[in-house]
Amino acid sequence: MTEYELPSTDLVTLTTFVLSEGFRLQERNLATGELTLLLNSLQTTCKFIENMVRKARLINLVGAAGNQNVQGEDQKKLDVLSNEIMVKSLVASGQTAVLVSEEDEQPHIVAEIPGASAGKYCVVFDPLDGSSNIDAGVNIGTIFGIYTVREGSTGSIEDVLRPGNEMVAAGYCMYGSSANIVLSTGNGVNGFTLDNAMGEFILTHPNIEIPARGKIYSINEGNSAYYHEPVLKYLESIKYPEAPKKPYSARYIGSMVADVHRTLLYGGIFAYPADKKSKNGKLRLLYEGFPMAYLIEQAGGVATTGTQRVLDVQPQNIHERVPVFLGSKDDVHDLLSFFK
Ligand code: AHG
Ligand code: MN
Ligand code: MN
Repeated sequence: MTEYELPSTDLVTLTTFVLSEGFRLQERNLATGELTLLLNSLQTTCKFIENMVRKARLINLVGAAGNQNVQGEDQKKLDVLSNEIMVKSLVASGQTAVLVSEEDEQPHIVAEIPGASAGKYCVVFDPLDGSSNIDAGVNIGTIFGIYTVREGSTGSIEDVLRPGNEMVAAGYCMYGSSANIVLSTGNGVNGFTLDNAMGEFILTHPNIEIPARGKIYSINEGNSAYYHEPVLKYLESIKYPEAPKKPYSARYIGSMVADVHRTLLYGGIFAYPADKKSKNGKLRLLYEGFPMAYLIEQAGGVATTGTQRVLDVQPQNIHERVPVFLGSKDDVHDLLSFFK
């Protein structure tokens, strides 16, 4: 008798998965082999960052970098390093035209970088999400969304000032007790777990479908004093429901990647609403709101600003913020009834 069991799914690595997904898209003329190359480059990037995250405490990579990013937030050493890894690797892939990072005020236009060759994809990303959790060793992650450059464009900011519904792929990697990549290329959502010894992400969560209703709400309730009426009323409804309904449990990690990951698997609702202090909430539209909304919808859930589908928001600015409520279909619909 063996002492362990293999996952009950077929043994598929992320590399194999992306290759076959690439063929599927090619057959439908939706992609050429370039998306496969780009996704493989992202996979390597996530392994690199994962490696740094695991060692951070030992090689003095924790703590502040001593500068602020464009949002006026103090950067951590790992934010800066992860950003460098992403930019260098995505430029080197030869498949990118425009890169937008949370950590850089201006987009990178690859054609303008000396020696770089531009490709046809635009990647918007949060190199390290959950910075406030880094030094405590709590789950953090990398979030990305991918657009194809517009016909005839060699890469400009206009290529990324487009609604999330035009993205061709989105995903994240969570660095937690295990490293997990969750990815969608518009054909459902699949999750992979890194086997550190092999250096391979293995398909462990095929075809993720978010439960239609959950039992968990996830929100920074410390901001309640600033919340608007619909959010307060909704929270009251799930905390003090009429019998026989049971109150919801609260879970809030403070890393969007981790809170969304749990929401995808267990169901429930995650929110970072607009409030009296922040008229668009806190989360960034391009590289937090859109990729997560894309994954949630692909998994059968709903993502809304309270008044609009997140994926339909037309960005005006690469770093703009967006109010977000996402998760199980029934839970988000309940929330929406308070906005009517
Ligand atoms: P980042 O670390 O990339 O700046 O993102 C932090 C975000 C997100 O991960 C999380 O959901 C949210 O900030 C937490 O904010 P609060 O600390 O205000 O709850
Ligand atoms: Mn973030
Ligand atoms: Mn970040």
